[in-house]
Amino acid sequence: MSIDAIVTRRSIRKFRPDAVPLSVIQEILEAARVAPSGKNDQPWEFVVLGGEEKERFCACMEAGLRRETEKPLLPESHGGLADAWNTLRIMRQAPITIAVLNRFEGTPFAEIGEGRRIGEIIATQSIGAAIQNMLLKAEDLGIGTLWIANTIFAYPELTAFLETEHQLVAAVSLGYADEKPNARPRRPLESMVTYRL
Ligand SMILES: Cc1cc2nc3c(=O)[nH]c(=O)nc-3n(C[C@H](O)[C@H](O)[C@H](O)COP(=O)(O)O)c2cc1C
Repeated sequence: MSIDAIVTRRSIRKFRPDAVPLSVIQEILEAARVAPSGKNDQPWEFVVLGGEEKERFCACMEAGLRRETEKPLLPESHGGLADAWNTLRIMRQAPITIAVLNRFEGTPFAEIGEGRRIGEIIATQSIGAAIQNMLLKAEDLGIGTLWIANTIFAYPELTAFLETEHQLVAAVSLGYADEKPNARPRRPLESMVTYRL
């Protein structure tokens, strides 16, 4: 994989309807499989959703967003609801959405002790590495991606649909891009680094 993918990758929010071959999806998942993880415990699991299954996943996301307005589980995060509706629109357009689960954890709405919390932090880092590998591999293969955390707004609905007790961490929507966004701004390096050499 070329290192350029790190620089050329963009979040894609407009997709063409063209199907993505299963072999391409599998290459992207293979990149996730070889990601580093804490104690090499590979906490990730993936559910690949296309066609009617993806439609049903999106319908559950919509039901969750509606329920979140009426009976909020995340009242302090409602500033992000409009963005979540926009994410749903993009998920509906993308031919494939991959749900990403943490197989060692459950619902984030339950209290957990310090030990579990540390485990969760480490597993979440590992899963972030796996997702980034997927995004970069997809970029290399000419496939556009969107990393999605707005699934949190429809957590109960989506995990019920997936029939899982495992923690839904994120989703990745993918397909052939129908836009070529410019690079989004980043903070300058000197604002984020302290050298103590
Ligand atoms: C953990 C994480 C969660 C994200 N969740 C969403 C999301 O739910 N919806 C969305 O449209 N973009 C989402 N994004 C994409 C970010 O908005 C995007 O990466 C950022 O604006 C920088 O743009 P770029 O990816 O094109 O460089 C997410 C990105 C990350 C890393």
